[in-house]
Amino acid sequence: MGTAFEQLRAMAPTISVGMLTADLLDLGAQLKIIEQAGVGIVHVDVMDGVFCPMMTVGPPMVKALRTSMLKDVHLMIDEPLEKVQAYVDAGADIIAVHAESASHPHRVLQAMGKMTNANDPERGIVRGICLNPGTPLEMIEPLLDEAELVVLLAINPGWGGQSFIPATEKRLARVREMIAASGRDILTMLDGGITRKNIAEIAAMGPDLIVTGSAVFDGKAPAENARTMLGAVQK
Ligand code: DX5
Ligand code: ZN
Repeated sequence: MGTAFEQLRAMAPTISVGMLTADLLDLGAQLKIIEQAGVGIVHVDVMDGVFCPMMTVGPPMVKALRTSMLKDVHLMIDEPLEKVQAYVDAGADIIAVHAESASHPHRVLQAMGKMTNANDPERGIVRGICLNPGTPLEMIEPLLDEAELVVLLAINPGWGGQSFIPATEKRLARVREMIAASGRDILTMLDGGITRKNIAEIAAMGPDLIVTGSAVFDGKAPAENARTMLGAVQK
């Protein structure tokens, strides 16, 4: 199987499906639907009502997701340093923190580098650093030596269903240059506002991973939506 990072490299470009707008009372069945449609990654948005306005789910929900998909945990929480271990223990394969949310983001990444994947110790943890649309990209440069993934938010965090901010395209191009200059193998991800309508255009911007929430779980046809979104990104 290889490490989670190797699995992502092999799958890229692909989608990571956000579960927030799924039918939460029927989540097990909803996850099976997207898994059977060929989705390899499930995206869990963790919001604490402090770093961003909404409150969503915590470690028990991450643990409760019984799936063979990789668990991609996006932490939109204040001061994650003391909190990340619980998400790793709950089975996160990818765990991404916001540079803006931590007094010591480099230390958070270092700490995650010492953690063991609870699903399979051989799998390793993919450490992501996220940036809001209003944050200067320079903030991630000193963090790249401790990260395997850079996540650019294409919306302001808080809710699904917002519109993709066009300036994200230039930001991604610049991040890719920064990654190339670092000499490290680091994945990129775009999150927010990606729909059936714009996904082909966004895939052409060259991210490795694309988060899509409400476009798949639209309350109507998740399997068909997932297949359409996958088809639009896979080469
Ligand atoms: C927003 C989250 C996103 C969002 C994606 O704060 O990080 O993952 O829920 O949802 P859509 O795809 O609906 O924009
Ligand atoms: Zn997210």
